[in-house]
Amino acid sequence: MIAIEVCVGSSCFLRGAEAVIRILQELVERHGVKAEVTLRGSFCMESCTQGVTIRIGPHLHRGVFPEQVPALFAREVLSELAGGGGEGGR
Ligand code: FES
Repeated sequence: MIAIEVCVGSSCFLRGAEAVIRILQELVERHGVKAEVTLRGSFCMESCTQGVTIRIGPHLHRGVFPEQVPALFAREVLSELAGGGGEGGR
């Protein structure tokens, strides 16, 4: 199981958090990983930058723009699910 948290604090919200969440929802559906991914909003993560702050598992990604989300999802979620079985098996 991989937890994804998208900051919906006022700064991130203004910078497109809603679009980021929508894209993540679409990607989760499209790749059929709904059972393996939790997606939720979060309060300010105190990393307000020029884009949206997202936490994927233990990793914080700052300054994310909607157009970067598919690549980030592929790298941080799909490859993790494919390689580690979701529980960090290395
Ligand atoms: S509002 Fe998102 S990190 Fe502060």
